[in-house]
Amino acid sequence: MAASLDGFIARKDGRVDWLETADEFAGGETMDPGFVEAFLKSIGCYVMGSRTYETALSFEAKGLGWAYGDKPIFVLTSRKLPRTRDTVEFYSGDLAQFVNGRLRPAFRSIWFVGGGVVSGECLRLGLADEVRYSILPILIGDGIPFFEKLDRDVTLHLAEVKGYKSGMVALCYEVRTEMKRPNQEPEPTAPSGRGSS
Ligand SMILES: NC(=O)c1ccc[n+]([C@@H]2O[C@H](COP(=O)([O-])OP(=O)(O)OC[C@H]3O[C@@H](n4cnc5c(N)ncnc54)[C@H](OP(=O)(O)O)[C@@H]3O)[C@@H](O)[C@H]2O)c1
Repeated sequence: MAASLDGFIARKDGRVDWLETADEFAGGETMDPGFVEAFLKSIGCYVMGSRTYETALSFEAKGLGWAYGDKPIFVLTSRKLPRTRDTVEFYSGDLAQFVNGRLRPAFRSIWFVGGGVVSGECLRLGLADEVRYSILPILIGDGIPFFEKLDRDVTLHLAEVKGYKSGMVALCYEVRTEMKRPNQEPEPTAPSGRGSS
């Protein structure tokens, strides 16, 4: 996901108006449309929380389009939400069982779109191989954190850093398998899945 430098993915009320910033980083790279297209093609399916889905629906209603093409989208929810296209499927329940039992055998690359509740759940359950974290050149003071309710340390390996002309810094981390609660010895976790965030 994209976050403010102080670690928020949206304002408390869900607004993401601050994602558009006017910064310019002279030495930065430009986003290559060919690379973006190939990257999006490599994604097998998307998984998102219900609040992120509701934001996507509201963007579409405002004429801002649908960012997920015709790829399957699994929306986690315990509520009855509108299903606006055939590619959307709802799921409620054990996320680890769903990802490992149903999604991993079917898709090579599973993209966790967010938001903070789902990315926290995904890390807690040991389902992520990779975390993609883009920092925007802004501080917003308060909001929805990138990872909600992490109850342990998650050690990471920095695999890639890119600074863009827009002032955004894109970080890619691989998730290490060992985790520990604060003040405890490291303990093994569930096998790592193929998810990203
Ligand atoms: N900056 C970015 O790149 C970025 C990216 C993605 C999202 N966002 C923003 O993040 C905000 C939403 O994040 P959020 O943390 O508030 O919510 P979220 O993670 O999108 O959705 C959380 C909700 O998903 C449902 N859920 C989660 N796990 C479930 C499970 N295992 N089974 C059934 N339902 C489950 C629950 O809702 P129910 O009540 O429906 O059961 C839960 O309240 C939005 O404002 C969105 O725009 C920003």
